[in-house]
Amino acid sequence: MEFILYEVKDTIATITINRPKALNALNSQVLDELDKTLDAVDLNTVRCLILTGAGEKSFVAGADIGEMSTLTKAEGEAFGKKGNDVFRKLETFPIPVIAAVNGFALGGGCEISMSCDIRICSDNAVFGQPEAGLGITPGFGGTQRLARTVGVGMAKQMIYTARNIKADEAYRIGLVNAVYPQEELLPAAEKLASTIAKNAPIAVRNCKKAINDGLQTDMDKAIVIEEKLFGDCFETEDQKAGMANFLEKDKEKKLKVVPFKNC
Ligand code: CAA
Repeated sequence: MEFILYEVKDTIATITINRPKALNALNSQVLDELDKTLDAVDLNTVRCLILTGAGEKSFVAGADIGEMSTLTKAEGEAFGKKGNDVFRKLETFPIPVIAAVNGFALGGGCEISMSCDIRICSDNAVFGQPEAGLGITPGFGGTQRLARTVGVGMAKQMIYTARNIKADEAYRIGLVNAVYPQEELLPAAEKLASTIAKNAPIAVRNCKKAINDGLQTDMDKAIVIEEKLFGDCFETEDQKAGMANFLEKDKEKKLKVVPFKNC
């Protein structure tokens, strides 16, 4: 891999988009490598994924403008599909994904962060969808996910004006859950990831699926999705051990969930 770094510590994996000379902009090769990296994650051991960018200036400064500049209509559509396919893989990835946004998150950068379950950022982070200023629409899901994340009015304002926002405003509108000094961002992401990883892995996966799938449908169907995933948990060792520990008041044991493969 030329542009992706992948590191596993215990049950937490970190994917770093590593193209700092272009502020980690997403060209086709980066997207292909990200796709392959996701396919290679060992889901028997990894329980939470962190996505970040190399360096202290940029998370991802968007799709590669040089590569896009000469595309035809058909090629533009295909490039959009390439990004959308990888981002959807990330969004529907079985385990939670935390975006640790360490600087510019513009265009495709803002969009990839919104494909993650949770966004936290450094205090120098800048978010925005500058595409309208470049003569295009957001192309990797921004028109859809920004409206779903921050509401239709705010999303339309950001997209139509192409105005970037700083970390404090991103926090205020609910685009990120927390803002940290740069040096504290990855430790905070790792702490959050390990808090998630301590919980029952099948339950966490089912929570993600219930929330994601439920948001795609009406409430009557959504609660049936939840019922099914809730029911599935009763076939797991984690449910039996977790509830028995609670009833036996064994707080120490309660934190120890069985490895995923044994569930
Ligand atoms: N594509 C390709 N290269 C990029 C890039 C991008 N999106 N963003 C930055 N770079 C490159 C620059 O061309 C520059 O390369 P060179 O050193 O070879 O000239 C290098 O990264 C450093 O960038 P700057 O010199 O511009 O750094 P700066 O600090 O002056 O500005 C910035 C930083 C404000 C982020 C500026 O680089 C910028 O505005 N980048 C473009 C942001 C953008 O418009 N993103 C949206 C792209 S469209 C999109 O993403 C569509 C979609 O939805 C799929």
